[in-house]
Amino acid sequence: MLSHPLAPGAELCPLEPWQAEEFAAHVDQVREHLAPWIPWAHTIVDAESARAHLQRYADLQARDEGRLYGIRVDGKLAGGTLFRTFHGQSGVCEVGVWLDRGAVGRGLVTAAVRAMVDWAIDVRGMTRVEWRADPSNTRSVAVAERLGFTFEGVLRQTFPVAGRRLDSGIWSMLADEWHEARAAAQTGR
Ligand SMILES: CC(C)(COP(=O)(O)OP(=O)(O)OC[C@H]1O[C@@H](n2cnc3c(N)ncnc32)[C@H](O)[C@@H]1OP(=O)(O)O)[C@@H](O)C(=O)NCCC(=O)NCCS
Repeated sequence: MLSHPLAPGAELCPLEPWQAEEFAAHVDQVREHLAPWIPWAHTIVDAESARAHLQRYADLQARDEGRLYGIRVDGKLAGGTLFRTFHGQSGVCEVGVWLDRGAVGRGLVTAAVRAMVDWAIDVRGMTRVEWRADPSNTRSVAVAERLGFTFEGVLRQTFPVAGRRLDSGIWSMLADEWHEARAAAQTGR
C-alpha cells in the first residue's frame, strides 16, 4: 500500500471505504479518548456507519474538497489525519487529527501534519492552512504551536459534540510563513 513514513514502524496511509470493518474496530478502541472532542466518535458505531464516513471522504477526495488518511503503527491503525476542508479556488484548507491513546507522545501527528502542509502548500498551491481546536484541548493546541501556526482567535460555542458546544480556536499557517520557517530550519537560523 502507498504510504509516507513518519517514524520507525509508523506511517501515514490511505484510509478508504473497503477498510470499514477495520476502521469500525479502531473507533471502538479510541471512542472514549476522542469522545470529548470529535463528533464521529459518537456516531460511528458499526461497519456500516464507518463505511459511510469513509465513503464521505472518498467522495470529498474525488471532488478535491477533502481527504482522509490513517496512521499505522506496526501495521495497526493507530489514528489518522484529514483535510476536513480543502478549497482549491480560495487556497484555504483545514487539517484535523486523532490518535489512539497508546500512540500519543511520539510526534506522529506533528510529523504527519508537517507532510500534509508541505503537500498542500508546495504541490497544491494552498495559501492558508487552518487548525481548529477548543483552546482547552491542550494536546491539539500544542501540535499547532509546535508547527508554528499563529493563533487568530476563538469562535465561541460553534462546534457541537454530543450535546455540548465547544469553542473553536483558530490557528493558521500561511504559505510564505511555511517557506520562511523551512528555510530557517534548513540553514539552522
Ligand atoms: C491531538 C492529538 C492527536 C495530539 O497527539 P500528540 O501525541 O500529543 O501529538 P504528536 O503525535 O504530534 O506528539 C507530540 C508529543 O510527542 C513528543 N515527541 C516525541 N518525539 C517527537 C518528535 N520527533 N517530534 C515532535 N514531538 C515529539 C512531544 O514532546 C509531544 O509530547 P508532550 O506533549 O508530552 O511533550 C491527541 O492528543 C488526540 O488524539 N487527542 C484526541 C483527539 C483530538 O483532540 N483531536 C483534535 C481535535 S481538534
